Amino acid sequence: MKTTEEIFKNALDKEVEEQLFAIRQSMSYYRCALMEVETKFKVLNEQFSLYYDRNPIESISTRIKSEESILRKLKSRNLPLTLKSMEDHIFDIAGVRVIGSFLEDIYDLANYFLKQDDVHLIETKDYIQNPKPNGYRSLHLIVEIPIFLSNEKKWIKVEVQFRTIAMNFWASLEHKLRYKKELSNERLAEIDSELFECAKLCSTLDQKMQNIKGSKK
Ligand code: GTP
Ligand code: MG
Repeated sequence: MKTTEEIFKNALDKEVEEQLFAIRQSMSYYRCALMEVETKFKVLNEQFSLYYDRNPIESISTRIKSEESILRKLKSRNLPLTLKSMEDHIFDIAGVRVIGSFLEDIYDLANYFLKQDDVHLIETKDYIQNPKPNGYRSLHLIVEIPIFLSNEKKWIKVEVQFRTIAMNFWASLEHKLRYKKELSNERLAEIDSELFECAKLCSTLDQKMQNIKGSKK
């Protein structure tokens, strides 16, 4: 005969186990969505090399947002710390970064991707046409794509960041330089202004490289 305490404990264990499974399941869906999107870009790269004899993609990387950053983002936006709230409000859990060779490749790749009928555009942030005040440039898309599971189809949100090599070079080093905590405010302001200058140089470089190449694919 089980005691009341044991019955409660079992029920609680079961509830916790179910919740843990739901989280694992959701994360697995985001990983599947990343595989789908990565494959789509590999296919586009293949097509490009068949027709134009060159690869417009330098590299593709994917990442899943850590559980800690998801919780931190929900908290900072005063959103409930639940799985549903995560799925409804955090759109960058699955992230893909596509590094393209030339400026025009970025827009070509984004347009070919968006033309596919199973890619639904949710939001575009064009920080190339409109760089951030600190100089950050990149084209961000939030899309929803279907993943096909054993007995259902689920639509999953993915953030895709398109950058040239120069945009990625700047963003990677900016991230490293700005997250050095021990710096004085004065030095930080100096770094910000130097980084802004570097961002302008990177933008000029992208334009020059595109001009050298010309606009034929
Ligand atoms: P997050 O809460 O950071 O996701 O910002 P957001 O929802 O306002 O989206 P936004 O499109 O502005 O930025 C999303 C992502 O772009 C970030 O997580 C970074 O990967 C990248 N990013 C945006 N701004 C910067 C920047 O100033 N520097 C660098 N290095 N990366 C940036
Ligand atoms: Mg983000």
